[in-house]
Amino acid sequence: MSIDPSNVQEGQQPNNMLTNRQGHPITNNQNIRTVGNRGPATLENYDFIEKISHFDRERVPERVVHARGAGAHGIFEAYGTLGDEPISKYTRAKLFQEKGKITPLFVRFSTVIHGTHSPETLRDPRGFAVKFYTEDGNWDLVGNNLKIFFIRDAMKFPDMVHAFKPDPITNLQDGERFFDFCSNSPETFHMVTFVYSPWGIPANYRMMQGSGVNTYRWVNSEGQAVLVKYHWEPKQGIKNLTQKEASEIQATNFNHATQDLYQAIERGDYPEWELLVQIMSDEEHLELDFDPLDDTKLWPNDQFPWLPVGKMTLNRNPEDYFTEVEQAAFGVGVLVDGLDFSDDKMLQGRTFSYSDTQRHRAGANYLQLPINAPKKQVATNQRGGLMQYKVDLAPGQNPHINYEPSILGGLQEDKQPGKEHTPYIQGNLVRQSIDRNNNTKQAGETFRNFEAWEKDELLSNLIGDLSRSDRRIQDKMIALAEEADAEYGRRLREGLERASNEGSSQKNLGNKNGDKAPEQAVEKGH
Ligand code: HEM
Repeated sequence: MSIDPSNVQEGQQPNNMLTNRQGHPITNNQNIRTVGNRGPATLENYDFIEKISHFDRERVPERVVHARGAGAHGIFEAYGTLGDEPISKYTRAKLFQEKGKITPLFVRFSTVIHGTHSPETLRDPRGFAVKFYTEDGNWDLVGNNLKIFFIRDAMKFPDMVHAFKPDPITNLQDGERFFDFCSNSPETFHMVTFVYSPWGIPANYRMMQGSGVNTYRWVNSEGQAVLVKYHWEPKQGIKNLTQKEASEIQATNFNHATQDLYQAIERGDYPEWELLVQIMSDEEHLELDFDPLDDTKLWPNDQFPWLPVGKMTLNRNPEDYFTEVEQAAFGVGVLVDGLDFSDDKMLQGRTFSYSDTQRHRAGANYLQLPINAPKKQVATNQRGGLMQYKVDLAPGQNPHINYEPSILGGLQEDKQPGKEHTPYIQGNLVRQSIDRNNNTKQAGETFRNFEAWEKDELLSNLIGDLSRSDRRIQDKMIALAEEADAEYGRRLREGLERASNEGSSQKNLGNKNGDKAPEQAVEKGH
């Protein structure tokens, strides 16, 4: 018997009646069916078997990175301009065009390396992924809190993640594996400088910046393109933690960032971020000492000012964590008309990876889930697959016609809304790094821009973790720091020498931890 709660009359079964997934009322949720009240259970216990076997399947694969996250719903309000020009000069993306135009969105913040219940105080970049439900379909801006990344070529991503995740034998995170990878991949040094500073532990999700990190293109109605980078600036201000402050929070609360976001929204203190962009003409820019497609580099603000294009407000908590936050699927390939890819090699690799992993983690029909489905009509000829629960038909479409082209009432191609951007591309097919690597210059600038306490934290955190690595790895890291900035290099070298002397004197005193001071034996995230 199936029950429609709206049809229940007074005196009949209550609206909150417990049923199984077939809609059958559950009359006894305390006892399984047995032969006598002590007896063996019987196999026709449908209600019990349905309940327990669903429970057995409650977990799905967690994200291979960014497993721990918190999410919220909100809106984006466009400003309609870019500096003192109409934004249409640069992009025809509809969500940006009119001042005051509102687009609903969903955000998921995350940590990167550890599993789904790991502490939110770990030293790690933070994910900042936004899904805009635009009138042209979804646009996902999948970014981080920091504005650059460790590597510039997607080929290296699985190695990087393996080095940062726990050791495959001991299942312990190991700073030596982290620094082994980083010291042998010098492009990581700029990001390591940020992550080991207080910027590697944002105080919470509301008080951190966001960035698209990779370089994208904007396309206007004439098909002309510019290169663009996106940044989110929190109206709440920016706050980062020292290692000591983070450790103190972690001692009593490993959910503090989720809690902070949830509670702020519950009390009506809605967090806001302004979206700003940097643009550059769509060229190689040989006058710069870095490549605009290199995501290990900042675009200097004085040459490429941050220009506001709109504001995001988060104003609604999820109704169910699993349905919304866990099953949300963001991808860098999810763009709308007027927004385009660039040749940034990381962006191109990412574009394959996200949807690929989501088909594995949430199934072939993950885009039919309400959190991922666009809030506009979807009409495809895709059919079947695990967990398909509806067919995406257009009104009046002949349901027999699941192919195109056809004159029998099937779906038709849309007209191109503006001139297509058709860059001319020529070159030999090669496996080569870009020319302007310049791995350490910006790391030095970043170091010099830090306040004194941020430099002190950076060095103490680096020395603490690096002192437990092989000497050859330490020497490589010192060489990178020296190349970046003389003070940075000197302080790292001296600090590691001091740690090594202290370590050997502790060994002489018979310290069982070898060269690990007890307080340094605390596992740290990256
Ligand atoms: C999540 C791959 C670089 C930000 C993920 C996931 C994969 C992945 C497979 C899991 C997605 C899921 O299960 O839904 C890659 C690859 C990269 C790369 C192959 C480099 C080639 C980056 C960079 C950023 C970034 C540079 C920052 C801009 C994120 C975020 C998430 C994520 C924020 C979590 C999205 C969410 O909340 O669901 N990445 N990633 N990734 N990645 Fe990357």
